[in-house]
Amino acid sequence: MVKLIKSTQELISARAQEKGSTGFVPTMGNLHAGHISLLERALADCDVVYFSIFVNPKQFGPTEDFKEYPRTLERDLELIKSCLNKYSGKSVIVFAPENPEEVFPSSDDQTIVVTNFNNIIEGKLRPNHFDGVATVVFKLFQIVKPHKAYFGLKDYQQYLVIRQMVKELAMPIEIIGMPIIRESNGLALSSRNQYLSENQKEEALILSRTLTKIAQTIAGKKANLLKAKKEIESILSDTRWNYLEIRDAYSLSEDLTNSSRITLVAVFQLGSTRLLDNMQQEIE
Ligand code: PAJ
Repeated sequence: MVKLIKSTQELISARAQEKGSTGFVPTMGNLHAGHISLLERALADCDVVYFSIFVNPKQFGPTEDFKEYPRTLERDLELIKSCLNKYSGKSVIVFAPENPEEVFPSSDDQTIVVTNFNNIIEGKLRPNHFDGVATVVFKLFQIVKPHKAYFGLKDYQQYLVIRQMVKELAMPIEIIGMPIIRESNGLALSSRNQYLSENQKEEALILSRTLTKIAQTIAGKKANLLKAKKEIESILSDTRWNYLEIRDAYSLSEDLTNSSRITLVAVFQLGSTRLLDNMQQEIE
């Protein structure tokens, strides 16, 4: 059964009746196979899955696409229903508040700032973005009180922000990071891919192909990092890259001396659309 709830109070009451294990998948809607992969894992793990669809104003900058962000609730509900058909005996509660006041009733709402990660890399280019993400996820966690919550590694820095928040604030929630779902040509699925023209979709393949190539250069060896960094230096002469970096996969530090695992993090921009991607690997 899929139940749609639009009010926070109603959701809190429904949750209070719940006894089994509870999973949570927070999203901003306009669902694709990436979101559905999180739902499938949550349904496999838990008795009841809460699935939020909320375009969070706090994580958009003043010149970003909050107003244009695609809102497709009817279609999203159909996708959730057809996914649930494969899991008999389970249920999904969709929390889709219609206006921001439902989640943030007062304008002086508290802000959660995860200082380790909030103003580096993506956070440096999008001031306050991760504060907005951490604040809404904190609030949704308070409302839903899940045992487990599912996040895509597509937004790798976001995943680290949430893990850090849960650890620092001792929230009793297991955070599960899920692999990036890609098109067969390598392009990571994203709600923002629909802003791309056919030509731009072709150009976008540069992103995953470049990351794959650098990952191959590194090939699990610290000794290859210098060569990879040189390769990156020449790639970055193409101004479509907002950034392309190798960082420690846990701390996002630039210093890789003691790293056992690294992440490539990148944003490739086509027109006004910023495409994010990343890849991790062990190194020795
Ligand atoms: P949204 O962009 O809708 O993404 C919701 C979840 O789906 C995130 O955890 C994201 O990492 C995951 N996701 C998106 N594309 C994916 C892909 N190709 N493969 C696997 N997972 C993918 O991320 C947000 O919303 C918001 O910041 C949110 C956490 C809901 C807070 O507002």
